Amino acid sequence: MRTVGIIGSGRIGGTVARLAVAGGYSVVVSNSRGSETLADLVAELGPRARAATPAEAAEAGDLVVISVPVRAYTEVPVEPLEGKTVLDTINYDPRLHGHIAELDAALADASITTSEMVQQRLPGSHVVKALNNIFFHTLRTLTRPNGAADRTALPIAGDDPDAKADASRFLDAIGYDTVDAGPLAEGWRWQPGTPAHVIYAGETVQVAVPGNAARVRGALAAATR
Ligand SMILES: NC(=O)c1ccc[n+]([C@@H]2O[C@H](COP(=O)([O-])OP(=O)(O)OC[C@H]3O[C@@H](n4cnc5c(N)ncnc54)[C@H](OP(=O)(O)O)[C@@H]3O)[C@@H](O)[C@H]2O)c1
Repeated sequence: MRTVGIIGSGRIGGTVARLAVAGGYSVVVSNSRGSETLADLVAELGPRARAATPAEAAEAGDLVVISVPVRAYTEVPVEPLEGKTVLDTINYDPRLHGHIAELDAALADASITTSEMVQQRLPGSHVVKALNNIFFHTLRTLTRPNGAADRTALPIAGDDPDAKADASRFLDAIGYDTVDAGPLAEGWRWQPGTPAHVIYAGETVQVAVPGNAARVRGALAAATR
């Protein structure tokens, strides 16, 4: 895998792009307003980065990261993502995003998670829930080389083992261990409001606290609906 497509290149998407370039990948970043609005980010990222449309980023990526606001998940391109591993960073937190009636209805009985909704939109793709429970600034500061004593672990969930292996390799390359939390349906364990969602925040979200796999497993196990 050499190229990462990024759909939504804001705080999280832009941070993932920076870490991916540092990890040796090429990146194709995209947003809703057009590639010219990503000129500063592309200039910062250097020659292994370019900006394109979301469909082009989806097409170019060997692995694609979706990092758009939850309301925009219905606008993510479908066909160019077919057959690909797609990392879904999306969170739905009504305290931040306001209530979205259709999401409230779908999520009310806890029968579906947001990543399963993304998977339903992308039936030909292999969605892996990842990077949802780490503040973008923390994501940038806690990156560590493989084997570092204070390396942080991040949970992933997905229904396709090969896609989860892709996700783990990518997260390893950008400085993180992974904890396999099971199928996509288990993603509720680090949705907003759970212990694992805030695991890397200290007294304020600006304070980054590393956490190993055991700590992540403990937080996932402590989640209640
Ligand atoms: N911020 C965090 O620390 C954090 C941590 C974990 C997970 N998350 C989740 O990750 C996602 C991104 O969060 P963020 O904080 O990075 O948001 P953000 O800074 O607001 O960036 C969102 C990005 O998505 C793009 N976008 C919006 N609508 C789009 C569309 N229809 N097609 C393509 N791109 C579109 C925006 O581009 P334009 O500006 O051109 O519209 C922007 O580049 C959210 O779902 C959030 O809940 C955030």
